[in-house]
Amino acid sequence: MNIIVSHIQTHPLIKAREAGQFAMEFSPDLGLSTMTVHLSPDGVDFSTGERLPWHAVEEVNANENNCFVVEGDALRKVVAFSEYTNRVYSLMPTRSAPTMLISGIPMHRIKDTDPYRDTLEKIKAARPVGEVLDTATGLGYTAIEAAKTAHHVTTIELDPVALDIAQDNPWSRALFDNPKITQCIGDSYDVIETLDDTYFTRIIHDPPMYNLAPHLYSSDFYMELYRVLRGSGRMFHYIGNPESKSGRSVTRGVIQRLLAVGFSQVKHYAQAFGVVAFK
Ligand SMILES: C[S@@+](CC[C@H](N)C(=O)[O-])C[C@H]1O[C@@H](n2cnc3c(N)ncnc32)[C@H](O)[C@@H]1O
Repeated sequence: MNIIVSHIQTHPLIKAREAGQFAMEFSPDLGLSTMTVHLSPDGVDFSTGERLPWHAVEEVNANENNCFVVEGDALRKVVAFSEYTNRVYSLMPTRSAPTMLISGIPMHRIKDTDPYRDTLEKIKAARPVGEVLDTATGLGYTAIEAAKTAHHVTTIELDPVALDIAQDNPWSRALFDNPKITQCIGDSYDVIETLDDTYFTRIIHDPPMYNLAPHLYSSDFYMELYRVLRGSGRMFHYIGNPESKSGRSVTRGVIQRLLAVGFSQVKHYAQAFGVVAFK
């Protein structure tokens, strides 16, 4: 895996240089592990052969919204434009797992929490066991966590460019390595029609915000979610901050439509900014 850095890793490098240090512990994978790096007047030397010149370290340090892959002695910003959705995808660092920005909008909660804790709340709400359907892959965090307790996870992503971003993210590695996870590319709205009745024990529905994908909040789609869910199955549906005006009104509509298509019970699950629905 490539070395990937953000301002969170470069800030201590600059401090160490100012303090006259010649070596320090450094994370080459956005906080997952550490290695010793050597500091010279020219830059930072990695035991794996890469060298980051100080001007590159300064460049990373000045950019709080992006992560950078180290390629030889150059940097590649983790960002891509999708011609399919006309959106820009990038990886934004946090002190924990990074989030993905789609046209500047974070795909995980980062205010008063972080993407990893956000994921754990979603997982607590979904209680993954058996066959799990994850309707929106993103960086794969919900799929990866669900696969720890489930038999198998099927995860669907609309835009292959989102998966290109995930390929660069060390926190997404298991999405590509774990044989318990099957990835599908397509619009969940269409892909779900190909899935068998009552096949899934659990569903994690973690769509982009309502304005970005209203069809994933529609009665038609909810009917399909209901169809593929096993009797006594459970679904977690992320919606957004229940305290916000828009979150409140979207939540009201979601609950009404879920009940209308047949879910027997729909409960607010505020810790995870969503609802849990039971078949
Ligand atoms: C909130 S993120 C999902 C985060 C993900 N659960 C995780 O743990 O990293 C939403 C994702 O859904 C994808 N998406 C948007 N519309 C979609 C659709 N119609 N079908 C499937 N995926 C979609 C976006 O590209 C984005 O990657």
